[in-house]
Amino acid sequence: MRNKVTSFLVILLIVLVIFSEMSVLEARKHHGKKGKKHHKEHHHKKKKHPGEDPGNGSPPTPPPTNDPFPTTSTKNFNLLSFGAVGDGVSDDSEALLAAWEAACMVNGSTIEFPSESKFLIKPVTLKKCNHISLQIDGTILAPAKVWSGPTDVMYQWINLKWVQNFTIRGSGTVDGQGCEWWNLASSSHRHLDELDSMKKSNSRPEAIPTALRFFESYNVTVRDITIKNSPNCHLKFDKSGGVKVHDLTISAPEDSKNTDGIHLQNTQDVEIHHSDIACGDDCVSIQTGCSNVHIHDINCGPGHGISLGGLGKDGSVACVSNILVEKVSMTDTLYGARIKTWQGGLGAVKNVTFSNIQVSGVKVPVIIDQYYCDKHSCQNHTEAVAITGVTFDQITGTYTSQPLHLACSKSVPCSDVTLSDIDLTPSPGVLSGKIRQPFCWNSFGTSEGPLVPQGIDYCLKKGSSSLQKIAKSHDKNYCEQAS
Ligand SMILES: *[C@@H]1O[C@H](CO)[C@@H](O)[C@H](O)[C@H]1NC(C)=O
Ligand SMILES: *[C@@H]1O[C@H](CO)[C@@H](O)[C@H](O)[C@H]1NC(C)=O
Ligand SMILES: *[C@@H]1O[C@H](CO)[C@@H](O)[C@H](O)[C@H]1NC(C)=O
Ligand SMILES: *[C@@H]1O[C@H](CO)[C@@H](O)[C@H](O)[C@H]1NC(C)=O
Ligand SMILES: *[C@@H]1O[C@H](CO)[C@@H](O)[C@H](O)[C@H]1NC(C)=O
Repeated sequence: MRNKVTSFLVILLIVLVIFSEMSVLEARKHHGKKGKKHHKEHHHKKKKHPGEDPGNGSPPTPPPTNDPFPTTSTKNFNLLSFGAVGDGVSDDSEALLAAWEAACMVNGSTIEFPSESKFLIKPVTLKKCNHISLQIDGTILAPAKVWSGPTDVMYQWINLKWVQNFTIRGSGTVDGQGCEWWNLASSSHRHLDELDSMKKSNSRPEAIPTALRFFESYNVTVRDITIKNSPNCHLKFDKSGGVKVHDLTISAPEDSKNTDGIHLQNTQDVEIHHSDIACGDDCVSIQTGCSNVHIHDINCGPGHGISLGGLGKDGSVACVSNILVEKVSMTDTLYGARIKTWQGGLGAVKNVTFSNIQVSGVKVPVIIDQYYCDKHSCQNHTEAVAITGVTFDQITGTYTSQPLHLACSKSVPCSDVTLSDIDLTPSPGVLSGKIRQPFCWNSFGTSEGPLVPQGIDYCLKKGSSSLQKIAKSHDKNYCEQAS
């Protein structure tokens, strides 16, 4: 039985290899026929001579017997068959839109971006498509020059909207070529949120685009690929659910401005794991409306760590719950496990666990900041996003400035906070004059297990039942009725 299965798999593999080689041939054939569309002309029709050396150094393939799966190839839509040139210079956006349209007619189809090719794609919206995959083995390039246009092209480069049962995978790269955008952001010495006012003065674009953004999409998987050098956030999910991200590589230089790795907003049921994220801002940023998020086995850094928030800006309501971040290694990040809220917000953050976080050279590994502010100073308010049920467990390693910083709201203190098994020591070589003591303000809960440095066991105040009531009422009034 096992033998049969094995030989079946071997045959399947051979068939797949032949198909992929034929698609390379097809690619060459269509090279230069830019602009023409070949909707019906798929590579399975052009059988190449069996045993022919494809000329790319791979060994000759044995002759195929009768094609056992005539339908599989009709599900593969090679971008090069749709008029894409793939030289990194010609604009292949039209080819992508044509391939998208054709592939969306076929349930279970795949759009292929073959390796060795570089597809220059202008800002595009790919929408309303179920049960298809993008197989990215080559490179997708954003325009290297800053662009301008209507809001949907300013907020994202590749906009995936209303897709379900959708997968992106492959060994390839999505390259946002964001260098010019970063220079723009840094030359302003201002925060991104202020770009709006710059636009009014016509000196700046209204926003800086995210590379890949999913909107109102469900059951989405993004795996294996590399996403790099985005102008802004690399991968964003907005109003989506059933998200799986794994074995991803995200990278941008440390001094790239505002480049989050993965950004979640109003998105539920998310698992992000086994990925390496290095960028200029948060490795993962969790914003309002997110719940049931599980992040594990991540290497993060450089960057700003894994953050909830900033929540509650301009008096807005923020609701975040059931977040589990575990088995994360942070290296040379600004923060480690972080929750930040603005003064004057409403709503609640509840049931958040950071566990088994290994830090190395992290400036402030554990932080709750309810006085988050992007300017020199912001006004204090009595309203606050309530924070309750937060656990920091097994946080170990080295820091360069302060081990722990819990600055909770004066009127709505943090409740039900747990600190357990914390072991943080200054990074070797950091001058003792640079090290700040742990800071704790209005944070209630319990500490357990060994806690290093000493002193953080006195950090949490006891007796928070009345506070939990306040938090519960925030949750009830602003979050439960909303969902
Ligand atoms: C597409 O195929 C999947 C299984 O491969 C199936 O579950 C789904 O119902 C199909 N969708 C349509 C619209 O036929
Ligand atoms: C998505 O896939 C699931 C499981 O295969 C299936 O039950 C569901 O109908 C699919 N939805 C769409 C919109 O294709
Ligand atoms: C998502 O997938 C699950 C099963 O994996 C399925 O039950 C559900 O219907 C899918 N949702 C959508 C919106 O396709
Ligand atoms: C808290 O969040 C975790 C992780 O998302 C989840 O497994 C657990 O059920 C949640 N607890 C409650 C009481 O909702
Ligand atoms: C806001 O309140 C905090 C905590 O009480 C205090 O340290 C800070 O100085 C206040 N900020 C302003 C602008 O009043």
